[in-house]
Amino acid sequence: MHAAPSLKPVLALVAGDAHARLAEEIARLIGIALTPTSVSSFADGETRVRIEGEVQDADLYIVQPTSAPTNERLMSLALIADAARGEGASRITAVLPYFGYARQDVRKNPGEPRSAQLAARILRCAGIDRAVVLELHSPALESAFDIPLLHLQADELVLPVVRAWGIADLVIVSPDAGGLKRAQRYASALGAGLAVVAKTRPGPDAAVALQILGNVHDRVCLIVDDMASTGRTLVAAAESLAHAGAKEIHALFVHAVMAPGALDRISAGPLRRIITTDSVPGTPDPRVQVVPIAPILARTVRRLARQP
Ligand code: R5P
Repeated sequence: MHAAPSLKPVLALVAGDAHARLAEEIARLIGIALTPTSVSSFADGETRVRIEGEVQDADLYIVQPTSAPTNERLMSLALIADAARGEGASRITAVLPYFGYARQDVRKNPGEPRSAQLAARILRCAGIDRAVVLELHSPALESAFDIPLLHLQADELVLPVVRAWGIADLVIVSPDAGGLKRAQRYASALGAGLAVVAKTRPGPDAAVALQILGNVHDRVCLIVDDMASTGRTLVAAAESLAHAGAKEIHALFVHAVMAPGALDRISAGPLRRIITTDSVPGTPDPRVQVVPIAPILARTVRRLARQP
């Protein structure tokens, strides 16, 4: 008697145009080949996408951090999803190691959009069934997604690095009130103290640290944040910690968004060690320790692919 043919869709992985190296590493860890896909531009600047492999009935995962240039990355992700839908993929999951527009989730001033919510809606409109994100700017942002969302944290990847330092008098510092929950999580996992910097933003991309709540004098401080963009938040926090008598100051941020000049700005300040991940593509720099995220994403894709 012959066994019934398996109806389980075939797992397929596509690299968007943002972070080919990460997608390749995830594919290698899963043990599959990437489905060939090309993303290019027409002469007028419009994006041209073509899935060149078979995705009919596939359980398809598209790896695409929507980092700079965010609009282009978001649009090519949407076009790949639409193409996959047209080719008959049975389920489409966007794997967004970094979700752009995350910081624009509330209207701070009249006349502003809720860009994060719009970016999330675009995913659904493009035919994406669910999304995997890593360390969103805030947990509240989960409600912006009207498709099922898996929100991963980078803790299991980055905390062992900090533990290996073997620091006894560590204080985890949130560089602003918004990051306090994350800092609390790290402090509790590491058995460390907790402090928070009161930060204000006098204008877009500017940051001023006002005061520190918590005891940092003569302590080793680790500032933890979701991202560094201009680096001004980190520098302002590090300078105020130094002023308050911190013994050593280190920084850990998950997404190295890094606007031009950010790394120079950050490394010119009092920070000693800087840890981040490779959620956003970038050129390696000896001043920064980069923790690879492919293992957690590969494991997640494997797990999701087992779900009916
Ligand atoms: C802000 O709320 C975020 O958590 C980061 O602190 C911020 O986005 C970092 O931006 P920048 O490096 O430009 O100060």
